[in-house]
Amino acid sequence: MDKLLIEGGARLSGEVAISGAKNAALPILCAALLTAEPVTFTNVPQLKDIGTLLALLGQMGVKVERAGDTVTLYASGLNNPVAPYEMVKTMRASILVLGPLVARCGEARVSLPGGCAIGARPVDQHIKGLQAMGAEVRVEHGYVHATVPRLKGARLFTDMVTVTGTENLMMAAALADGETVIENAAREPEVVDLANCLVAMGAQISGAGSDVIRIRGVDRLHGATHRIMPDRIETGTYLCAAAVTGGSVCLTGTSSCYLDAVIDKLMDAGCEVVSERDAISLSAPARLNAVSLRTAPYPAFPTDMQAQFMAINCVANGVAMIRETIFENRFMHAVELQRLGADIRIDGNTAVVQGVARLEGATVMATDLRASASLVVAGLVAEGETTIERIYHLDRGYERLEDKLAALGAKVRRLT
Ligand code: EPZ
Repeated sequence: MDKLLIEGGARLSGEVAISGAKNAALPILCAALLTAEPVTFTNVPQLKDIGTLLALLGQMGVKVERAGDTVTLYASGLNNPVAPYEMVKTMRASILVLGPLVARCGEARVSLPGGCAIGARPVDQHIKGLQAMGAEVRVEHGYVHATVPRLKGARLFTDMVTVTGTENLMMAAALADGETVIENAAREPEVVDLANCLVAMGAQISGAGSDVIRIRGVDRLHGATHRIMPDRIETGTYLCAAAVTGGSVCLTGTSSCYLDAVIDKLMDAGCEVVSERDAISLSAPARLNAVSLRTAPYPAFPTDMQAQFMAINCVANGVAMIRETIFENRFMHAVELQRLGADIRIDGNTAVVQGVARLEGATVMATDLRASASLVVAGLVAEGETTIERIYHLDRGYERLEDKLAALGAKVRRLT
């Protein structure tokens, strides 16, 4: 298994380009299942999770063409509406094929994703919505079996805000008979990016980005070309890496308009942030002020940035209270940060982080994607060498991480 070696202490500086958003690309690639015509996507990040999804689509009969960050999918040959356990278990976002398969084929057999390190992460809301649209759904032997001649538009209300639940149901509704209204819908920018792609394919959708999305079903969708939005979580991660090292960086190919809550916190921590049309620049003080935060659905502070902020709070001036309200077990990075010398106390879904003068390099283990990112951020500022094991978690969500960090002056290398 690969490891990452980081020699802490370098102030990050310089410019790096941000890739397309993993959490936009995953649902948007699944949208290609909704039409027999070719759909072309650009700015697709070259990540493990994307490769996993393309392999999953390929075994369904979808023809995949990939050249750099451009992917073209031809679902005319879709002949196997099945997502097998062997593939789904490595990436829970595979559940995003469920809605499109039921809408296009009238049936789907998708393995339940199962839990993951950060929580049980059930998909009951996805199933409840499809049932409300007329699908007969059985869950047996670890698979979701859904069948329906044609989905019918319905009024849907999710019990909690669910990003992929909203995305699955929006894709299913695009080909349903009649109008669907999704209430309590997720407002994340990735939901809006998916809606924009579906509209380019001929769907009739309004309200994406608000908590009420209306979809008027059509008989078929056509091909289109869509550029994936920038990855706001990758952007936030590099902003934290620069901030914790007292650095000064410019991130290009991204924008601040989806990161207000994160940028507010970085400014509270003492950073200067300048937003341009297609870039964000940050310069940080020698030592940050501690910032407390509470995660919640967009536009509030994103749960996917919680671990990275715990890392920067470890060496900040003061005490930070961090509340995680989305997932029930998303503090696993805390024990690893404590190995580096952090002073963190966990009490239920609240972490109290007392900033210390310095962290000391050690060997630590990644447990999930964003926990791994927080260990990288901490390693950049810890004295001496930090070795991060099981970095396959990182490769799922960060394209060429060590190259980008090295371009900003970090002393980092991958051990294979
Ligand atoms: C998406 O996951 C993201 N993944 C996650 O990013 C992100 O952390 C999460 O949204 C929250 O923003 C992708 O978009 C591929 P949810 P998702 O459904 O859709 C509960 C990363 O690091 N829930 O919004 O799976 C659920 O357990 C990943 O890139 C149900 O109970 O999250 C959670 O507590 C991690 N039943 C809460 O709702 C359901 O049917 C929010 O989950 C659905 C969700």
